[in-house]
Amino acid sequence: MVALDGPAGTGKSTVAKRVAMALDARYLDTGSMYRAIALAVLRAGVDPTDEDKVVAVADGAVLVVGTDPQKPGITLDGDDVAAEIRGPEVSLAVSPVSATKHVRELLVAQQRAIIADALDHVGGIVVEGRDIGTVVSPDAPLKVYLTASADARAARRTKQDSAAGRASTVDAALADVQRRDKYDSSRAVSPMMAADDAVVLDNTDLDLAGTIDALIGLVEQRGLRVTG
Ligand code: DC
Repeated sequence: MVALDGPAGTGKSTVAKRVAMALDARYLDTGSMYRAIALAVLRAGVDPTDEDKVVAVADGAVLVVGTDPQKPGITLDGDDVAAEIRGPEVSLAVSPVSATKHVRELLVAQQRAIIADALDHVGGIVVEGRDIGTVVSPDAPLKVYLTASADARAARRTKQDSAAGRASTVDAALADVQRRDKYDSSRAVSPMMAADDAVVLDNTDLDLAGTIDALIGLVEQRGLRVTG
């Protein structure tokens, strides 16, 4: 298993999926689970900062997350929400929702079950998030904390947004990256941080291919590439 943590805008999702494909492993995007609960909260017309109501919505939500790196997919109460959870409303609501202790407990339990199931699978699993190496799987044999400067991450976000047809400026992207970094790193429950035994990989000056190579290099160094 590979635990891949770090802030937004490092290319973490693309890297995690590509590495999973290269290793014939499964893939779990834990951020998509927090996003789906945030969407459930918005759909219920609940204020994302109203903890009691958020907990009630989370308890009633049925999430199914796919682990195929080619097409992960996620459904909420039977509805395909893969596209909708990437929208700006969900991106805003997800910070307070993911800071809710009970929501984290609920999702961490689901994530551990998915990981346990995947460990019987030959290629294992690549899991991306913010707290995989620290909380979800503290025994993961390889933990990587992928990071890059805030400026580089904002520039990448702007590029992604314009490619997806969303209006975006570097200044707005930088403000958003900084807001989320601050929120995710300073929350009381499972703040985003590198595990003590994580390899910190800064890809400010690396492209996607270079980042993927570096990660596969670490997997091989640790003898985690299993075939058969
Ligand atoms: O990786 P992402 O941007 O899709 O994550 C969405 C939000 O969920 C982000 O604000 C941080 C939070 N998150 C978290 O708290 N813990 C995780 N393991 C994954 C994501």
